[in-house]
Amino acid sequence: MEFKDIVNSRRSVKKYDASHEISDETLKSILGQVVLTPSSFNLQHWHFVVVRDAARKQSLRECAMNQAQVEEASACIVVVGRLDGYKRAGDIFAEAPSDVRDQMVPMIEGFYKDNSKLQRDEAIRSCSLAAMSLMYAACDHGYATGPMIGFDPAAVSREVGLSENEFPVMLVVIGKQVGEMRPRAMRFDVSKVVTFDKIDGPALT
Ligand SMILES: Cc1cc2nc3c(=O)[nH]c(=O)nc-3n(C[C@H](O)[C@H](O)[C@H](O)COP(=O)(O)O)c2cc1C
Repeated sequence: MEFKDIVNSRRSVKKYDASHEISDETLKSILGQVVLTPSSFNLQHWHFVVVRDAARKQSLRECAMNQAQVEEASACIVVVGRLDGYKRAGDIFAEAPSDVRDQMVPMIEGFYKDNSKLQRDEAIRSCSLAAMSLMYAACDHGYATGPMIGFDPAAVSREVGLSENEFPVMLVVIGKQVGEMRPRAMRFDVSKVVTFDKIDGPALT
């Protein structure tokens, strides 16, 4: 698909063919593109827990305000943010030239170590970008998706076994759409949301 067609056709889908199974091969192809998403210092503060098992999807649905798409989609992907992503800088820069590694690794650790807000902000930023990549990549593979924040984070964390350094940033359901979508809801025009130089600068008209 052309990128403009992906952007124009992607919607947050709620009705899925509950009998459709998504294969490991398809997931590998989609998520193989997702991991190319950018992240600050390339720290990749993400992990993806793919829930396909029917019983676990049913439990996750209960953690997600009983939203039916969690159970009816082929999979519910928990996009997990890692608060300790910065601790992997040594691994990530392992193959960099030694002068780069020796400069970057301590700098990154110092930047994040005592700043829990930054650790969380960064995980949310990286995971949100990855979730968008996931939705576009899925669309290109013929799959519909739906991003979700309507869930109890503690309950989802328990359900998929997250540690204290991990938290669910978003759920993304993925599957085959059934039925028709309503027309896309209103969007503010570019002229309302884009200005030059300052927040109250001249608008892009
Ligand atoms: C971060 C985020 C969280 C969302 N959470 C939910 C949700 O819990 N349940 C739901 O039905 N839709 C959810 N949505 C979907 C939005 O309602 C939807 O993206 C918006 O109405 C625009 O529709 P479109 O994606 O079809 O263009 C969420 C979207 C985003 C980006």
